Amino acid sequence: MDHFQYRDGELCAESVPLARIAAEVGTPFYCYATATLERHYTVFADAFEGLDTLICFAVKANSNIAVLRTLARLGAGADVVSGGELKRALVAGVAPDGIVFSGVGKTRQEMAEALAAGVRQINVESEPELEALGEVARAAGVTAPVAIRVNPDVDARTHAKIATGKSENKFGVAWTRAHEVYARAAAMDGIDIVGIAVHIGSQITDLEPFRDAYVRVRDLVATLRADGHPIESLDVGGGLGIPYGDDPVPSPAEYGTMVRTLLGDVDCRIILEPGRVIAGNAGILVTRVLYMKEGATRHFAIVDAAMNDLLRPALYDAVHAIMPVTEAAGEARLQEMDVVGPICETGDTFASGRPLPPLEADDLLAIRTAGAYCAVMASSYNSRPLVPEVLVNGDAFAVVRETIPVDTLLAHEPLPDWLASPATAGRRAARAAR
Ligand code: LLP
Repeated sequence: MDHFQYRDGELCAESVPLARIAAEVGTPFYCYATATLERHYTVFADAFEGLDTLICFAVKANSNIAVLRTLARLGAGADVVSGGELKRALVAGVAPDGIVFSGVGKTRQEMAEALAAGVRQINVESEPELEALGEVARAAGVTAPVAIRVNPDVDARTHAKIATGKSENKFGVAWTRAHEVYARAAAMDGIDIVGIAVHIGSQITDLEPFRDAYVRVRDLVATLRADGHPIESLDVGGGLGIPYGDDPVPSPAEYGTMVRTLLGDVDCRIILEPGRVIAGNAGILVTRVLYMKEGATRHFAIVDAAMNDLLRPALYDAVHAIMPVTEAAGEARLQEMDVVGPICETGDTFASGRPLPPLEADDLLAIRTAGAYCAVMASSYNSRPLVPEVLVNGDAFAVVRETIPVDTLLAHEPLPDWLASPATAGRRAARAAR
């Protein structure tokens, strides 16, 4: 259930017609529904009812401060992977002891910031990183609460670019070295072992890989405890897939039952790091048709959003549902269309041969399932502005990230003194001096 539905033929976010937001804010814009964020968080949390869990929303999926605060108010913690995300989580009001700091390459600066903030746990992914964290902690006169991320060598059966749990991936400590690394961590000043972490990938649509990974970590908890390590927390990562169309995916309840069955008796606090499953279907990107173009062999709808605004189709061949903001008449004949952006490369394509009702210039389209890994992955490629983000709540809406205009980007590009004046003037002056 999401909260982007037609009402009287107009697509609305909760009770707000998207056309109204477009008229006020301009296009393209991201739009998030509070009701969907709340519902997804609650359904996910309910799936673990009775277990000792901490749900740390993966900030990388959607780092908008208003979105984070919406979730934090429901009790969500945060999984952060950079000093920037840590800052956002804190500004949003996430309590430091609800924050887990993950990531394969934390800088010493980021480690120091995380320790100063008093985060719950830092997930360490290599021995050199462990050394560095020990040094940073000792220099700050504190002890770092550490979980070692292990790589369970499990195939998540997802897109290769977002699979992280195979031995050839850069993530985590090799399964076979876990014992040595824990022993080394235990012997280090400034390091306090608190748990184990694992994360095998994202958009996982089959529970089997989770099961394989969790069976391995369950066994590891037992052997590490037998070695004398205090394993209090078990961070099982994120990764639960979501429907981008009608594709079947396991529900949070099914995932929760699996976690309970496999890990319910390990006597650990279970940390979960969901991102996409909470935010993905809570957001859309609204774009306007600029031109309809008849190519030699294809029909193109050229829209004002582009791959810089929403990269997933170009990067992962991701398929996002697209629907007109004004509902098509029941008898409208669908036509196969390519929905493309204005950027100068063919990869700037949101959909190929997609059956859509007749469109014309100025029509608004909604690109669905754009609440996770969309706005956060935007760039200013082709010197395009970063588009605004809007949060709807019932019949109210607010801009929660303003446009970052091209002028702002240009203002951060100082010219060196030897280029202070435009080239032609400089050349003329040089000629005159000769
Ligand atoms: N925890 C860790 C350590 C992660 O690396 C990730 C995602 C998550 C949690 C959250 O996973 P989720 O529940 O959202 O699947 N840009 C890609 C997705 C990259 C995911 C990276 N890690 C995309 O657009 O599909």
